[in-house]
Amino acid sequence: MIELLKNTFSQLFKEEPSIVFAPGRINIIGEHTDYNDGYVLPAAIDKGIYIATNRNADAHVNLFSIEYNELYTCSIAELSKTNIHWVNYVLGAIIELKQRGYDIQGFNAVITSNLPVGAGVSSSAALTSATLFALNQLFSLGLGKTVMAKFAQQVEHHFAGVNCGIMDMFTSLMGKENHAIQLDCRDLSYSYVPINLDSYVFVLMNTNVKHSLASTAYNQRRKECEAGVALVKSKYPEVRSLRDISLAMLTECIPVTSIIHKRCFCIVNEIARVVSAVDAISKRDLVSLGSLLYQAHDELSHLYEVSCKELDYLVGTVQQMEGVMGARMMGGGFGGCTLNLIHKDFVSSIITTVKASYEVDCKLPFDSFIVSLGDGAKLITN
Ligand code: GLA
Repeated sequence: MIELLKNTFSQLFKEEPSIVFAPGRINIIGEHTDYNDGYVLPAAIDKGIYIATNRNADAHVNLFSIEYNELYTCSIAELSKTNIHWVNYVLGAIIELKQRGYDIQGFNAVITSNLPVGAGVSSSAALTSATLFALNQLFSLGLGKTVMAKFAQQVEHHFAGVNCGIMDMFTSLMGKENHAIQLDCRDLSYSYVPINLDSYVFVLMNTNVKHSLASTAYNQRRKECEAGVALVKSKYPEVRSLRDISLAMLTECIPVTSIIHKRCFCIVNEIARVVSAVDAISKRDLVSLGSLLYQAHDELSHLYEVSCKELDYLVGTVQQMEGVMGARMMGGGFGGCTLNLIHKDFVSSIITTVKASYEVDCKLPFDSFIVSLGDGAKLITN
């Protein structure tokens, strides 16, 4: 892969590039908690985006994507949103930097990826993080990884119109091999949690559902959480986010039959589940971890309503099977992957069985992979 990247770069631009890698991510637990000032427990995976770059003297940005076999060129002085999805993340990163006064000049880039797109493993955050990390090197900007994560989040807000939290970019930049990150999204303090699952592995199962309304529904969920906070605030003015709110406060301030109550109830529980999951992992108590995954799925599906019938199908199917400790939908929802905690000896037979039934019952292709946890963004060659 890196050889192909180098060769493509030298064919197009006749020079040696420097190469940066930024990974995709899984999230063990803590869904939709990042924009509620809560905890998340994500981890970088060993698949991601590679970007080869060098500076040029012609004041242009020349971008080539190997996967899309597409070249895009524009002047560094005239950057604006295009109708090419992948290009926007790169241009968005440059614009965010330029708006903050960083001096970005012409450069060439070739991009390649081994991350599935739309599977909920944050390929867009990986692309933005890779671009920022590469530009930081190329133009000696002196940016730290946390600052880059904040800039990458702004790119998503301004260029993709998704009012997302910081989990995906933070993980892509800060991940550590064989560790998850317990991140406190209120102040970005974090600790690395060693992941040792004994005979178990995490497996991603891809529904191959790409929901076109996902970003609208995501922004709407965010507003519903804010509405819940406003209601509680009228009685408890010190409250700033769902992180500060208990179940008792919710029930006191919001009618229990309302949608807002359902949404907030799920998130308050989900924030607590992250703490319980870290405890279970540190005690190697995979039974408790698995049951937290099922609980999370149940509430995200029925209360937060960000699942879809295919995600529910996959979780419901594996729940009956020997060797499965837990499963849940992962990421923003409405499609993408489920995360499954499965005994090594059962993985291959489970995958075969689930694929056969999913493809018939849901009439969509099924794919899956065993997750390995890798490092965050890094320089591969200079
Ligand atoms: C998407 C967003 C994240 C996070 C998850 C849900 O991946 O980009 O910020 O909110 O959904 O946990």
